[in-house]
Amino acid sequence: MPTKLHIHGGAPLNGTIAVDSSKNALLPIIAATILTRGVTVLKNVPRISDIDNLLHILIALNIRPTWRDGDLVIDTTDITYNEITSATAAKIRGSIFVLGAILGRFRTASVPYPGGCAIGSRPIDLHLQGLRDLGVRVIEKNGVITCKKTNTRKEVFLDFPSVGATENLILASVLGKTRTIIHGAAREPEVVDLCNFLNAAGAAICGHGTSTITIQGVPALAGTTYTAIPDRIITGSYLIAAATCGGKVTLTNTIAAHNENLIDKLRKAGCGIHINSDKITITTGPPFTKGVPAIRGRGFLRALGTVHTAPYPGFPTDLQSQLAVLQTISRGTTHITENLFENRFRYVPELKKLGAKICVTRDKSITIKGVKSLTAAHFSVNNSSLGATQLHATDLRGGVALVIAALAAPGSSVIHNAEYIYRGHAAIERDLASLGANIIRTDD
Ligand code: EPZ
Repeated sequence: MPTKLHIHGGAPLNGTIAVDSSKNALLPIIAATILTRGVTVLKNVPRISDIDNLLHILIALNIRPTWRDGDLVIDTTDITYNEITSATAAKIRGSIFVLGAILGRFRTASVPYPGGCAIGSRPIDLHLQGLRDLGVRVIEKNGVITCKKTNTRKEVFLDFPSVGATENLILASVLGKTRTIIHGAAREPEVVDLCNFLNAAGAAICGHGTSTITIQGVPALAGTTYTAIPDRIITGSYLIAAATCGGKVTLTNTIAAHNENLIDKLRKAGCGIHINSDKITITTGPPFTKGVPAIRGRGFLRALGTVHTAPYPGFPTDLQSQLAVLQTISRGTTHITENLFENRFRYVPELKKLGAKICVTRDKSITIKGVKSLTAAHFSVNNSSLGATQLHATDLRGGVALVIAALAAPGSSVIHNAEYIYRGHAAIERDLASLGANIIRTDD
């Protein structure tokens, strides 16, 4: 069902909002419940479509997930092995995690190739090579991956710290008698959270958060109660929204240590950031206003010069498009290079509709020249969205970037295909409206 967001921009953001639990921690954790016996309670799980889709895959294995006051209760008592062929599985990347979990539980697994998405082809060669290196027999035929655990080797060397491949290899290794070592592992907080969940369920994993993770196989895992880490990408997106629109915003349920790279950049750009326990408060002067001495510099944020995305703890690719929006109204020129995905600049033409001076300079880089303000259409026919600036989201994080840009641009904008945004945000319009944003969701 096509979802649109209708935004009247130009106002600062002020207030306090709590950040949801992390989508990218919860997806592998939900897949990991396949390895457990009994009931697991995951606290405060956001109702987002990527999670709903993954639950359909668990139901195909005769697992019963139920929602209870915002918690997700997963009972695997009656789990049965099934080949996962559902169309849903091919729709989201989340399905690839179930491969490792099903293989770990049943020593055999069959899942369809996961869906790619707008930001790139999303290959899984590192996943499959890693499994082969651990002695798993992997057959790829007619778009289906079938795996069988045979002799188990003990060490695997990842050529790139792939988050998903690291998580899949962990899930395939937690049950059994073998001691597995993953070299070149991803260090993302979401990988650490998956390992903390598995250890809470009885696994024996150490080294998570470093590039060498050791997993001592155990006979079984038991259901447990667990709260996933806060979503660092939502935290970062809202910090950037506040910086771009001006105002004073406090985020609660955050772990500032997971956003150190971004916080450093926001401070360099001229924002005030105060951290107190799980709260982050950001203060940014108003965009340039005639006759009003701006709090920062000459009414502009400062341009950052050069930014490269990189695996954690580098600057996250999932905040690249949002940071680009901030830089469109920053004094000076910024070059951003996207090193993780090959097609993550599709939001650029949309920002140009709001007056941004931004262009793709090479297939992996964009150049941004700061302007005083973005601007949207200043009229709308009898208050409908007909006269508004029409923007089109193409993926989750690019869609959030368009929301930030529309909020900062005085005038009316409509964001089409906003359903992408709800893959990762339960209610972005509610969150931002509580900060004073003029934003309405419609579903045709
Ligand atoms: C996870 O994707 C996240 N998704 C992504 O977030 C995030 O951008 C990415 O990690 C990097 O941090 C989830 O956790 C569900 P990778 P993943 O394997 O695991 C290439 C969002 O918006 N690669 O670290 O797919 C791959 O093509 C999403 O929430 C291979 O070549 O990321 C990419 O260029 C977007 N072969 C790079 O590595 C492989 O076998 C990083 O991929 C696997 C990956």
